[in-house]
Amino acid sequence: MLTTAPRGTKDIMPTDVTAWRYLEETMRKICAQYGYKEIRTPVFEHTELFLRGIGETTDVVEKEMYTFTDRGERSITLRPENTASAVRAYIEHKLYADPAPTKLFYMGPMFRYDRPQAGRYRQFHQFGIEALGVPGPNIDAEIILLAVQILQSLGLKDLKLKINSVGCPKCRPEHRVKLQEFFKPHFDELCKDCQSRYDRNPLRLLDCKNPHCHELGEGAPSLEECLCDECKAHFAGLKELLTAAGVDYEVDHNLVRGLDYYTKTAFEIQYAPLGAQSAVCGGGRYDGLIKEVGGPETPGIGFAMGMERVLLALESQNLLPDFTDAMDVFVVCPNQEHFAKAFKAAIDLRRNGLKVDYDFQGRSMKAQMKAANRVKAHYVLIFGDDEVARNQVVLRNMANSEQKEIAISDITTILQTEVHEG
Ligand code: HAM
Repeated sequence: MLTTAPRGTKDIMPTDVTAWRYLEETMRKICAQYGYKEIRTPVFEHTELFLRGIGETTDVVEKEMYTFTDRGERSITLRPENTASAVRAYIEHKLYADPAPTKLFYMGPMFRYDRPQAGRYRQFHQFGIEALGVPGPNIDAEIILLAVQILQSLGLKDLKLKINSVGCPKCRPEHRVKLQEFFKPHFDELCKDCQSRYDRNPLRLLDCKNPHCHELGEGAPSLEECLCDECKAHFAGLKELLTAAGVDYEVDHNLVRGLDYYTKTAFEIQYAPLGAQSAVCGGGRYDGLIKEVGGPETPGIGFAMGMERVLLALESQNLLPDFTDAMDVFVVCPNQEHFAKAFKAAIDLRRNGLKVDYDFQGRSMKAQMKAANRVKAHYVLIFGDDEVARNQVVLRNMANSEQKEIAISDITTILQTEVHEG
């Protein structure tokens, strides 16, 4: 146990970090294009924030939160998602006083006590964005485009964008009544969770993971029939913009997201080859959340992408570039008498921005050349006895095996030119 990471968590090893950084850099670059600024919120918050924000009848709150009492007797929860925290920060720092929209993005670890499997972890990472302060469908279209652009620029194809409108407090009550009428004859067959949600939040019944509840929900009254004029117009506006932007989408009236704060637009991007955990991105509008958390009445919309899932998708399609972590120079010095000179050359090169490595253990020439190959060095500097006696060293170009002698005093100038031109 001591030597294994907790279930549902993973080390990201140096060989994998390059892929993570590639993903993060792509995300940052596209956020900059759209004018989104990074926010970093704490990984834990007061539990109350998530109870209020995410909703007490959701799976996330009922079953999946890592909640504990700290030494000051406060109830603390490791963030299961970042929207509630971003909204909390927006209110705390009065960002609503700035001109709207406030455009934020974040990436980092989230925590859910979920059943681990491929693509589902207890500590996972999300990249997400939140745009606060603007009510119309234009920004909905923009953030969906941003998500699609990120995934497409990584090379992913065959993505499925599903959109829906989950209505607003004006039109939901009618749907709620219809849902209760629909499920009433089957109440006894529902799982315990659904029975308890029947009164509190019947919409959640459509999101139950229990297969029998899922079956019972087939043919349930769709929210679409109950949408108010404002929600209908909003949804139509979004569809028009997505069509204008040439983005393919599918309207899925059964798309009920797992968190309670959504109003109007809800969407998901799926990558089918991932199987059961095919949702790589999910989001939507949350026009009531900021007020619910204690801020002024302000609309908002955002999404989050599961970074592990995006990486799994990229790996499965061989879309990860070949990351070469080659060193520029490896300094070989088998005779420890010359080590001080070799060491000085190495650190001078590093001070001039080159990637340099050397042997720390005074091993044989052969072993040091092997080490140079292992770190894929482009050049090797050899501090041999004869050459050092003449204040020279051998510079070997590993790509074509050409060798020449150069003066120790010229090492930095020559290598800087070689590395930058080569
Ligand atoms: P979510 O649908 O709960 O939404 O999560 C978004 C994405 O995070 C999912 O589509 C999935 O890719 C990834 N994800 C969720 N749970 C796990 C897990 N256990 N393991 C691996 N990946 C996971 C939200 O979190 C909302 N905060 C999104 C949002 C932002 N809505 C508005 N703004």
